[in-house]
Amino acid sequence: MSLIHGGNLIRASAEYGIPLTEWIDLSTGISPWSWPVPAVPQTVWQRLPEDDDGLLESAASYYNCPPETLLAVPGSQYAISRLPALFPPASVALPHWGYREHQHAWEQAGHRAVYYQNELQLCTWVEDGTVTNALVINPNNPSAALLQPALLAELASTLERRGGSLVVDEAFMDPHPDYSLLPLRAANTVVLRSLGKFFGLAGIRLGFAVASPALLARLAVDLDPWAVNHPARWLGRKALLDRHWQTGQRDRLEACSRTWCAELRGLFPGLDWHRTALFISTETDQAPALFNAAARRGLLLRLHADRTPSLLRIGLPADPHWTRALTILDDIRREL
Ligand SMILES: Cc1ncc(COP(=O)(O)O)c(C=O)c1O
Repeated sequence: MSLIHGGNLIRASAEYGIPLTEWIDLSTGISPWSWPVPAVPQTVWQRLPEDDDGLLESAASYYNCPPETLLAVPGSQYAISRLPALFPPASVALPHWGYREHQHAWEQAGHRAVYYQNELQLCTWVEDGTVTNALVINPNNPSAALLQPALLAELASTLERRGGSLVVDEAFMDPHPDYSLLPLRAANTVVLRSLGKFFGLAGIRLGFAVASPALLARLAVDLDPWAVNHPARWLGRKALLDRHWQTGQRDRLEACSRTWCAELRGLFPGLDWHRTALFISTETDQAPALFNAAARRGLLLRLHADRTPSLLRIGLPADPHWTRALTILDDIRREL
C-alpha cells in the first residue's frame, strides 16, 4: 500500500495544471536551508562504503549515545516499517495525528492499535495496562505536540515492567535537542532519528535507530549489504560533525518559524496555530478548502484529511518565496 506524503510536486503540477517550476512547495517539514553539500570525492562515488568509516562515531557524538546503540539506516522510514514486526503482536498506543507509516507498519505486523488524543490519554493507557507498547512522535508530525523527555522515560519504565516497549520517533527533534529522550533512553526504548528534516538532506536517505545492540541486530537482518550508500555515509558524517552550521541552523529555523507563525496568526486569527521549528499546523474543518485554494495558486501545502476535523500543515518558505507565499495566503483569506 502506498500512503500519501508531502512533497509530491510532480503530481500536484499535473493535477492543477501549473508548471513544476512555478510552485512553492511548503508541503513538507524539510528545512528550506540544507547543510551545504561539498563536492563528493570521486573515490566516494566509485568505492563501496565500509562500515568502519567513522559514521557511527560521529553520530554517537552528535546524538550523545554509545556507538554500539546506533544503526545507520536508509532513512528512519526503514526502521518504521520493520520495528513493529520485532515485537510480539500485542496492543499499541499510537497518536491520533501521526506520520501514517507508523500506523500501517504496526497494523501490518498484527498489533491492535488504539489512538490517543493527548498526553493524558497516553499516560492513562500505559498506566492502566490498556497497551503493551507505545509510539510517540516527538515533536509530533503533523500536530506539533511536544512531550517532555522525563515523562517519556517514566512511560518507558512502566511499559518495561509489563514486558512492553516504547518507540519514539524523533525525526523532527534536532532543533529542540533538550527534548530528546536519548540521554534517558531505557533498554526497552527505541529512538529514531533522521538526517532528512533539520539537515535538509531528505534525498540522501540516511537515518539512525538507537536501541539495545540485541534489538539492532534483529532490525539489521533486512538490511542489504551497503544499504546506506557511500555518498550518504560520507556526507552524513560531515554534516553530523559540523557543530558551527548546526548552531546557526537552529537559530535560523527558530527565528523563521516564529515569524512565519506570527504571519499565519495575523492572516487567519480564527485558527489555532501550533508550531515546531520546522512546520506550523492547524486543525480545522477549513483545511481542505484552504489546501485547494492554495494549490490552485501554485502553493502546495500538506492536507491531512484522514481524521476529523482535518489538519493543515505548512512548512517554512525559503527567503525567495516568503513574499509570494504570503501574498497567496492573503488572497485566500479574502476569498474564503
Ligand atoms: C515523523 C516522521 N518520521 C520519520 C519520517 C521518515 O523520514 P526519513 O525516512 O527521511 O528519515 C518522516 C517522513 O516524513 C516523518 O514525518
